Amino acid sequence: MSFPQTRLRRLRATRALRGLVRETRLHSADFVYPMFIAHGIGRREPISTMPGIDRLSIAHAVAEAEEAATLGIPAVLLFGIPATKDDEGSGAWDDEGVVQLASRAIKDAVPELLVITDLCLCGYTSHGHCGVLRPDGVVDNDASLELLARIAVSQARAGADLIAPSDMMDGRVGVIRAALDDENHSDIPILAYSAKFASAFYGPFREAAGSTPAFGDRRAYQMDPANGDEALRESRLDVEEGADIVMVKPALPYLDVIRRVKDETQMPVAAYHVSGEYAMIKAASSAGYLDERTAVLETLTSIRRAGADFVITYHAKDAARWLQET
Ligand code: PBG
Repeated sequence: MSFPQTRLRRLRATRALRGLVRETRLHSADFVYPMFIAHGIGRREPISTMPGIDRLSIAHAVAEAEEAATLGIPAVLLFGIPATKDDEGSGAWDDEGVVQLASRAIKDAVPELLVITDLCLCGYTSHGHCGVLRPDGVVDNDASLELLARIAVSQARAGADLIAPSDMMDGRVGVIRAALDDENHSDIPILAYSAKFASAFYGPFREAAGSTPAFGDRRAYQMDPANGDEALRESRLDVEEGADIVMVKPALPYLDVIRRVKDETQMPVAAYHVSGEYAMIKAASSAGYLDERTAVLETLTSIRRAGADFVITYHAKDAARWLQET
């Protein structure tokens, strides 16, 4: 009597057989590297809650983009921090806004690197919500859509390769698609933050982007962490409206959602390993509680195994370096 698992055990101890039977592989080509670009700072500013990640000037962002490309990372995701904010978030659709300037600069310097632009109002509004407010302080979904469409067109003009709406207003994918098509940008795909949960794990990001809501929270437009079926409905709606890639966010607490969205939509699926997930590993490893490299590679592998075609992660550059060494 011999047990099948035991028969593989001796060879499984060898790298060669582990490689042959491995189901999920991790590669730098699976990563998107997010960057925070701040208008007019002219230097790097460390983000205290995200060790290793800085707010960047445009010149520094270009240097980081070049480094990412050299490491085999195919795309960066840009978040802008404007010099001034207002009630409508008008900095977001300014053709000379920080994301627009950074997109042009990166595309000039590293044309082969894909530039994905995050499309949202929260970093640009003085109140920090992802849409415009009605007089009673509630986010006005329909009035926000028109502004989101303007941002999309402005980002497309600045050279964005993909547009990634993260606001979670209803109907935004369709409106953005129509606006892009009208302005001769029908070749620009939409990466929709479809299943975006109202998560505690966005905390460090909000500190980085200065986008914490001045009052209330985002639970009116982001999803309840308890709801998996709703994530599927949201993803299907986005696909019907024209999303080319759907995203689940955060990643680790929602691996089941990633799997379901992948199986049931059969679309390309992105997962966002968000700021709080990054901060957690950084904090634990700097305290000596776990080994950073092993924890990061295991985490990213699990997100891919769950069904994500690619992972947006602040660990992208480190992980790409570690993968080169193995
Ligand atoms: C903007 C946006 C957020 C993130 C990406 N786009 C934050 C939020 O909804 O408050 C979070 C990303 C991260 O935590 O890394 N709507």
